[in-house]
Amino acid sequence: MVLYNRYTLSLLLACTACQAAPSHHGDTQIVWGACDPSVVTDASLSCGFLNVPLDYHNPFAGQARLAIVKANATGERQGSVFFNPGGPGLSGLSELSAPVIKEFLLNATGGVYDIISWDPRGVGNLTVPGGIFCFDSAAEHAAFFNGTIELTGIEETGNFTDPADVNALLAQAPIMQKKYKELGQKCLNSPSGKYLKYIGTAATVRDIVSMANAIDGPDAPINYYGISGGTIIGSYFVNMFPERVGRVVIDGVVNPVTWATQKPSILWSQQLLSSDTVYKGLITGCALTGPAGCPAASEGDGPLDIDAKFQALLTAAHDATVANPSVLLSSGILRVVLLNELYGPALWDSFMKEGWTQAVEIVKGEAPANNSLAKWSETSVRPNSRLLKRTIPNDSSPYSTHAIQCGDAIDLHGVTMEQQFKGIIDTTRNISHMFGSYWPSQAYLCAFWPVRAVERYKGPWNKKFANQIIVASNVYDPVTPLASAEETARELGEDAVLVRQNGFGHATIAEPSACTINVLAAYVVNGTVPAKNTLCEVDADYEIFSGVTTADILAHLPSVDV
Ligand SMILES: *[C@@H]1O[C@H](CO)[C@@H](O)[C@H](O)[C@H]1NC(C)=O
Ligand SMILES: *[C@@H]1O[C@H](CO)[C@@H](O)[C@H](O)[C@H]1NC(C)=O
Ligand SMILES: *[C@@H]1O[C@H](CO)[C@@H](O)[C@H](O)[C@H]1NC(C)=O
Ligand SMILES: *[C@@H]1O[C@H](CO)[C@@H](O)[C@H](O)[C@H]1NC(C)=O
Ligand SMILES: *[C@@H]1O[C@H](CO)[C@@H](O)[C@H](O)[C@H]1NC(C)=O
Ligand SMILES: *[C@@H]1O[C@H](CO)[C@@H](O)[C@H](O)[C@H]1NC(C)=O
Ligand SMILES: *[C@@H]1O[C@H](CO)[C@@H](O)[C@H](O)[C@H]1NC(C)=O
Ligand SMILES: *[C@@H]1O[C@H](CO)[C@@H](O)[C@H](O)[C@H]1NC(C)=O
Ligand SMILES: *[C@@H]1O[C@H](CO)[C@@H](O)[C@H](O)[C@H]1NC(C)=O
Repeated sequence: MVLYNRYTLSLLLACTACQAAPSHHGDTQIVWGACDPSVVTDASLSCGFLNVPLDYHNPFAGQARLAIVKANATGERQGSVFFNPGGPGLSGLSELSAPVIKEFLLNATGGVYDIISWDPRGVGNLTVPGGIFCFDSAAEHAAFFNGTIELTGIEETGNFTDPADVNALLAQAPIMQKKYKELGQKCLNSPSGKYLKYIGTAATVRDIVSMANAIDGPDAPINYYGISGGTIIGSYFVNMFPERVGRVVIDGVVNPVTWATQKPSILWSQQLLSSDTVYKGLITGCALTGPAGCPAASEGDGPLDIDAKFQALLTAAHDATVANPSVLLSSGILRVVLLNELYGPALWDSFMKEGWTQAVEIVKGEAPANNSLAKWSETSVRPNSRLLKRTIPNDSSPYSTHAIQCGDAIDLHGVTMEQQFKGIIDTTRNISHMFGSYWPSQAYLCAFWPVRAVERYKGPWNKKFANQIIVASNVYDPVTPLASAEETARELGEDAVLVRQNGFGHATIAEPSACTINVLAAYVVNGTVPAKNTLCEVDADYEIFSGVTTADILAHLPSVDV
């Protein structure tokens, strides 16, 4: 997930009377037509645009333009469900083009709703303002961060047991602080810069209301499905417009209160609460399927034997990188690849067959470290994998996630990179031994981002909604832990009902569960609110590795720390 930005304090609170764009300020109609095929690859989808105010509280700021996409209901249309895939910063237009996402959403909404998504402000190349670019090219980005951990990741093993690793990291703190300050100024001075203050979740929520007003009318209830970073939009929406709440599902939950009121680095550390357990799921599945299905396994290996091989690989990559910082596969990059992989159990089998084998060869110096590993970060709902893209020519990755998260973030005057780096060491020792040193995460940029959004919503979070909403989570999610969904459901109050799926990966879409689909569809179609503490199993015939189901892995998860 990508997330950030910063600015105004008081405007948020001053805005209780604010509404979405009155219809006479923007377009009232969306004209649906063919989509731009360079962005939307599914030709059955329809597209359109809607003009909205750049700043809902300042009519003189000018107009924004939202690029919108629609998958028609397959059955008799009962309304619209707005969908955001997360990041924040992912393109709704490209994500809805993924067949598995479209099908999942149509299934989960009973096929009787049009699924509407869009590129939020700050995202993509059809919405205005679109993607936030701070560099002209990948080469400029590479030169700017040359020789820093931004490109290599952080080197450590054994929870930072070696004081040399601690010292090396802390020595980078002043360098990275200076770089991130410069980066913030570069972003501000880029063509995107003038838009940064208009990018953030509160404005995006008002955009949803504007779209809903145009599509279903100003009084219609607003239905919404948000995954991952899209859950923040959902939590903001139900509290900013409680009277407009229709059927709302947030799935793979980021705690909105922490998002809006705490340091992003704290939020990020809390997001890693279950990451090591999901990693244990991967190594357990590998051990259960054995050498034929998972090359990392030798005959008779248990999960901890596979773990030992992972740790040895990380150590070898670490030692090679410490000896020669320009080796292409550092242990830091391996950790990034691995965490991204944990998002999608559907990819574990091929990752262990190909990605693992390639990584071992690259670290041994027996294969070139080209882009072959980068594809393993490409899950359907993935974090910003800028690190991996450094070898892809001419791809200057957008800073959309950062712009959004930092736009929403609290003011962080006085927070230093050294404090944040000490936090990384604490997180590695206390929360996630495997992924505490994941770098870069957008969470660390906000302290040096020069802008905050003109409107920031800071609560309250437990308003009385017009309808009850669903808070859904996997029990083992590597980046939005169940604990976060539980806490969020408590914070949202009595109108939020928790639904858990007993499996792995990021958001319930990560594994198939007819139970979850039925629970969601009954709610979205009929308004049937699930029983408290509903727990859905993953489909019993679904195999993560050959012959190995989710239930098999759950029954064999090692209880010791990795
Ligand atoms: C917009 O972005 C897509 C990738 O998402 C790319 O294929 C396309 O060429 C871009 N279009 C323009 C006009 O830049
Ligand atoms: C979806 O509905 C629109 C009308 O809103 C229609 O123009 C379009 O042809 C439909 N698409 C498909 C694939 O049926
Ligand atoms: C959607 O539902 C159909 C019919 O039940 C099923 O075959 C398909 O696998 C489901 N797809 C997803 C992505 O849930
Ligand atoms: C990075 O720095 C090294 C050594 O200073 C230099 O050889 C290399 O060309 C630089 N790479 C880039 C992309 O600027
Ligand atoms: C990290 O710390 C935990 C808990 O002390 C320990 O079980 C684990 O082995 C450590 N990891 C490594 C790679 O040493
Ligand atoms: C990258 O490395 C892999 C594995 O060694 C190899 O199969 C592939 O052809 C290489 N790709 C390029 C673009 O060099
Ligand atoms: C990347 O940029 C360089 C320099 O601008 C250009 O020569 C090259 O053709 C570009 N490559 C691609 C794949 O666009
Ligand atoms: C991590 O654990 C140590 C020792 O238990 C404790 O002193 C420290 O405050 C903890 N840090 C965090 C961030 O929880
Ligand atoms: C909605 O309720 C009707 C009537 O009870 C039932 O037949 C239908 O299966 C329900 N739809 C869903 C998606 O649960």
